[in-house]
Amino acid sequence: MNKLLRVALFAVVFIVVTPIFANAKSLLPGKPVSSDTIRPGEIWPDTDGNHIQAHGGGIIKIKNTYFWYGEQREQGLDTTYRYVSCYSSKDLTHWKFRGNVLKMLPPDTLKSNWILERPKVYYNAKTKKYVMYFHVDDSKYRIAQVGIAVCDKPDGDFTYVKRFRPLGHESRDIGQFIDDDGTAYLVFEDRKFGFRIARLSDDYMDVEKEMTLVKEHMEGGAIVHYDGLYYAIGSALTGWKANPNKYATAPTLEGPWTEFQDIAPVETNTYGSQSTMLIKVVGSKNTVVIFMGDKWNPKNQWNSRYFWMPLEIGDGKLWLPKPQPWKLTIKTGKTSVSSK
Ligand code: GAL
Repeated sequence: MNKLLRVALFAVVFIVVTPIFANAKSLLPGKPVSSDTIRPGEIWPDTDGNHIQAHGGGIIKIKNTYFWYGEQREQGLDTTYRYVSCYSSKDLTHWKFRGNVLKMLPPDTLKSNWILERPKVYYNAKTKKYVMYFHVDDSKYRIAQVGIAVCDKPDGDFTYVKRFRPLGHESRDIGQFIDDDGTAYLVFEDRKFGFRIARLSDDYMDVEKEMTLVKEHMEGGAIVHYDGLYYAIGSALTGWKANPNKYATAPTLEGPWTEFQDIAPVETNTYGSQSTMLIKVVGSKNTVVIFMGDKWNPKNQWNSRYFWMPLEIGDGKLWLPKPQPWKLTIKTGKTSVSSK
């Protein structure tokens, strides 16, 4: 073979083989691949083919990129630490794992069996910091505090700052709400009273002003501002077991809030899921609100699933349709049922 031919052959082999190896993780036999379809309740492979680990999560949009943060509960983790994972996506469907952006030892006096749950990240445009809130507790859930960690970038590493009870109140499950005008709120469950919605301080490093106390004992609290109304949803207090989630509406965050009503047929227990967030996507043709829930698997937490469905919403009504595979076109905001 002359030299030129050998160089050409090498170039062809290099061009063909390199991308195959680059993608090897997702091409391994038996490894699922990231797909265009969202399948509520099924394994959701990230772009490496691994089941997404972002439980009890929250999502923010920075320019054209969505960042999904959640509890990292992968098998084989060093359990000395608690971890928060981060994934990014342009279309809310294909998610790239960006790493465990918080890896934390028990803060100050907490014991090794402490709890870090439901992380949510806010971007503060004034300080240019990413501020993470999470539920901090002991193994019996008696501490009831939020923790804060900060970072200059969305994808870590976040540094732990402090823990406290927001406005002096107990806080277990937390939810994140950013209004259309950019104001940031924390939703938190205060066991004896109900759940509270409170505005964050200017730098997001504190919880500053209570907007409302909704006197319903609910957790997994989430809010969306849709067509001039605020919709709040949440679950009953049944731990990892699913229950019928409910919603109420109000013209302002201060209320008055309507009575709570079911979001799905009661007997389905929200199709086995629990609310964690409501995401509003404003497309060129349609505005869609996605119910983002967790299907917990307490014995094998790594195998907990996600339950995302576009909601039927408007005129003060909200309904979670029965689960089926679906697709989202992020540009238009249109959704369609997927046959595959
Ligand atoms: C759920 C809560 C979860 C977790 C669990 C523990 O009600 O939403 O985040 O705290 O209880 O039992």
